[in-house]
Amino acid sequence: MAKKIVSDLNVKGKKVLIRVDFNVPMKDGVITDDTRIRAALPTIEYVINHGGKAIVFSHLGRVKEEADLAKNDLTVVAKRLEELIKKPVHFVNATKGKALEDAAANLGEGEILMFQNTRYEDLDGKKESKNDPELGKYWASLGDVFVNDAFGTAHRAAASNVGIAANVSETAAGFLLEKEIRYIGGAVDEPVRPYIAILGGAKVSDKIGVIEALCEKADKILIGGAMMFTFLKALGKNIGASKCEEDKLDLAKELLAKAGSKLVLPVDAVCAKEFADVPGVVKSVDALEADDMGLDIGPKTLELFASVLAGAKTVVWNGPMGVFEMKNYAAGTIGVCELLANLKGANTIIGGGDSAAAAESLGYADKMSHISTGGGASLEYLEGKVLPGIACVDEL
Ligand code: 3PG
Repeated sequence: MAKKIVSDLNVKGKKVLIRVDFNVPMKDGVITDDTRIRAALPTIEYVINHGGKAIVFSHLGRVKEEADLAKNDLTVVAKRLEELIKKPVHFVNATKGKALEDAAANLGEGEILMFQNTRYEDLDGKKESKNDPELGKYWASLGDVFVNDAFGTAHRAAASNVGIAANVSETAAGFLLEKEIRYIGGAVDEPVRPYIAILGGAKVSDKIGVIEALCEKADKILIGGAMMFTFLKALGKNIGASKCEEDKLDLAKELLAKAGSKLVLPVDAVCAKEFADVPGVVKSVDALEADDMGLDIGPKTLELFASVLAGAKTVVWNGPMGVFEMKNYAAGTIGVCELLANLKGANTIIGGGDSAAAAESLGYADKMSHISTGGGASLEYLEGKVLPGIACVDEL
């Protein structure tokens, strides 16, 4: 069944509560990547261009004590939204109370109101994160209908998503959430085959659920990143001084047995004697010495991956292939970006987090079918879990 989306709603004259994920990275109070704000613009624009009154809200960071409030103040994010949407954004520096209620009640058609970080309410017994029923009801009372466009936090049931949804007459997905459902949900439910997954990153332990699910669903699973060494060691290979999760070797053996020939491991690696951005040496995974540290996949592995990817119709990628932040160890991740960018007629989907950051910073973002805005959410979705932030949206 398809979900209702914002364009299925009649928003004219209505106060539309829009949950976005503006949990953007910041350094010294400055936003370092505004992708998530840009990604929510189509939904907010749709609402205001159709005579709706947009009430926008998000979490930012984690709030455990008073000192976390200033660090996670959304004022700067509201300013960035204003610049991007080129319309005034009335920012209310509160998550409850008369100022917010008056601002919501007096909002005009086509206007935008944004309020303070929903997790400010976590100071009071984690009310937002634990989905306090009164809080969801209160926020719901500020508007008429609810639009969830926050994919990044859809794997968490909070007052600001499922809590509100339980207390309004109509709920819809925003355009961003709809796109995430279409691409990632599409790969989970009915992938066009061949369906190839590429997994990287440091730890097998972060990806256990997803690897298990992909053993059932995907046609091949290509492994890169530091986690390849846990698998290679589980196969009895000498991995030298490469990173390895010793306590996950049994698990790696189980996953290897379960996946059988579906799991494709690297055949070579770029190695260094120290963890530094110095030129590495390409070695077969059978030829590592005791002090060799593998920091990237090698060129023969890329050739192998290219042959497996040829003709793929759905590709999901999560986790970089090496230490791409160092130029000497970026070739594997760049190579995978290239392979995906040149695949004809395939849906190429990049999970959020590091691989999304890699594709963006290496200049391949617009060459992919979809780059997810969710890190944890995209992994849980790929695992086949029901995400509360999606489940709470009305069906059509
Ligand atoms: C994210 O950045 O992954 C989401 O915004 C969720 O944030 P959280 O992990 O703090 O819940």
